[in-house]
Amino acid sequence: MALFFSLCLVFFFSLCNGSASPATTLHLDGLLPNGDFEESPAKANLKKTVIVGKYSLPKWEINGLVEYVSGGPQPGGFFFAIPRGVHAARLGNEASISQNVTVNVGSIYSLTFGATRTCAQDEVLRVAVPGQSAELSIQTIYDSHGGDTYAWAFKATSKVVKVTFHNPGVQEDPSCGPLLDAIAIKELPPLMLTKGNLVKNSGFEIGPHVFKNFSTGILLPPKQLDQISPLPGWIIESLKPVKFIDKKHFFVPSGLAAVELVAGRESAIAQIIRTFPNKFYNLTFTIGDAKNACHGSMMVEAFAAKETLKVPYVSRGKGGFVSASFKFQAISARTRITFFSAYYHTRLHDYGHMCGPVLDNVRVFPVY
Ligand SMILES: *[C@@H]1O[C@H](CO)[C@@H](O)[C@H](O)[C@H]1NC(C)=O
Ligand SMILES: *[C@@H]1O[C@H](CO)[C@@H](O)[C@H](O)[C@H]1NC(C)=O
Ligand SMILES: *[C@@H]1O[C@H](CO)[C@@H](O)[C@H](O)[C@H]1NC(C)=O
Repeated sequence: MALFFSLCLVFFFSLCNGSASPATTLHLDGLLPNGDFEESPAKANLKKTVIVGKYSLPKWEINGLVEYVSGGPQPGGFFFAIPRGVHAARLGNEASISQNVTVNVGSIYSLTFGATRTCAQDEVLRVAVPGQSAELSIQTIYDSHGGDTYAWAFKATSKVVKVTFHNPGVQEDPSCGPLLDAIAIKELPPLMLTKGNLVKNSGFEIGPHVFKNFSTGILLPPKQLDQISPLPGWIIESLKPVKFIDKKHFFVPSGLAAVELVAGRESAIAQIIRTFPNKFYNLTFTIGDAKNACHGSMMVEAFAAKETLKVPYVSRGKGGFVSASFKFQAISARTRITFFSAYYHTRLHDYGHMCGPVLDNVRVFPVY
């Protein structure tokens, strides 16, 4: 009888989990099915490089002119360097690829994707789920070897979400358009405050999926909300991205990740924290370089309430950091803390490659 009862309980609990709580999906963190496009369309469904048939690219649905591209020299004299893996999908005029992904309703997901423009013009890539979308301009100024990686976040509002990558452009050459070579997804954990620190995600430890074999850092485009962001808690202001860098591929001052301020004064990273008016606080942070040949005299400017601090740092591009702090008095119940790089930097021997100082370990605590 006792055995029967406990079996019943087990049965009851699994039933409970299955029906009442939607949190039965795995916490996704990796490539989407055929997210690296290494599973090829059948030969019969390829007309040269053009994929024929809506469901011919395994695991994906395609619309419009989508090409299946292999790395190396191409007919017509192009050379495609595909940084991650061997194959990629190129989205022609108004073409798209999409996939249904099973997710946990209410969770925040970040998509990480490698995208390269293929013609001379700036190209735009629209990434969308039903009700949420962003248009990213695909440039190659942050990694002149091609293969910039981007991240974008959405909030899951249904159990199955259709993720779409779309080229909204219309070029004279209909096959011109962004090349996608790898797409990953990660469910982001909810944000927690750690005791004695008013800054959320203060060491940038919670961020998008990083491709394991290859990373030139992940560009976090501006104008994403701090709640629904691949870098939860943080706001990327103005027009240009900041770069998320990980310990495996870069030098970071502490923990597993940090951000690189790659766009000078054109991009700032900020967070709004809760404060008590008139109270004094100490803001501490570290700045350094990512050991990526980004060199020169750098300066990070930090702002909180009425205070500003300019912190100089001389980078030899070999990894290193300094700590800085300043005291500020809160004016209201919300205080915005903001950081940007005062200057523009490029890599040694690679002037097409924008880079900048690294920011990590941002902490604010009351001063008694
Ligand atoms: C995704 O789901 C929608 C709606 O159920 C369906 O019409 C579409 O064909 C699915 N796409 C793929 C790639 O399975
Ligand atoms: C990563 O590298 C290993 C070893 O070189 C290789 O076997 C694996 O397929 C690579 N994975 C990806 C996603 O490129
Ligand atoms: C702020 O914190 C730093 C690091 O703990 C410390 O060195 C500095 O003296 C503090 N400043 C104030 C005004 O308390």
